[in-house]
Amino acid sequence: MDVKTAIEKRYSVRKFKSEPIPLEDIKELVRRAGLAPSVNNSQPWRFFAVTNRDKIAAIAQIVHEKVHAVFAEAGKANVAKTVEHFSTIFENAPVVLFVASEPYKAIADDVMDHDRIDEMRRHPNIQSVGAAVENILLSAVDMGYGACWLSGLLVARAELEEALGIQSPLELMTAVALGIPDGEPRKREKKSLSEIFELVE
Ligand SMILES: Cc1cc2nc3c(=O)[nH]c(=O)nc-3n(C[C@H](O)[C@H](O)[C@H](O)COP(=O)(O)O)c2cc1C
Repeated sequence: MDVKTAIEKRYSVRKFKSEPIPLEDIKELVRRAGLAPSVNNSQPWRFFAVTNRDKIAAIAQIVHEKVHAVFAEAGKANVAKTVEHFSTIFENAPVVLFVASEPYKAIADDVMDHDRIDEMRRHPNIQSVGAAVENILLSAVDMGYGACWLSGLLVARAELEEALGIQSPLELMTAVALGIPDGEPRKREKKSLSEIFELVE
């Protein structure tokens, strides 16, 4: 499949068939993620695939409980319901791919405050991880799968890092739910080119 087609066919998949994804395909998706550009070619990412149904359910339970603790107990029951839904859509996915990153190391760390450089360069590690995740989403389409990028579950980042054995200096950055789509695409409206493009002269 050419890149344009993959880009145009991609949409966030939140319902999956129960068929598993072969391990070789999961590894191929991660291999392609690892080809993404990264700041100073640091390739700061590590990928943790969870395919065990019980483990996925246990992770979802951690997120359910944390969303309740953070939102429902603050008297925000309606917000909690929506957040809980979108934070746990991976429950029915055959694969959840967690993406961790090493901290950003700048060439100028010795001469300027690290946090200032990170802020100034608009968090290059996060940008790098984003590029890797997009490779996964587009490759999923190419390989006949569907995926959804997940940041809602990070409400329970510390608890998830513990459950997944992600240890410092690695930090859990995001996750992707993967599987064979179940149901019709729900294509979201996108802004027109004129709304997002400006030629600076
Ligand atoms: C950084 C990021 C985080 C996201 N987190 C979630 C999430 O936690 N749960 C979810 O259901 N969708 C999540 N999404 C998917 C977006 O909701 C989705 O991309 C958006 O609504 C546009 O729809 P489309 O992907 O079908 O074009 C996330 C997307 C991005 C880029």
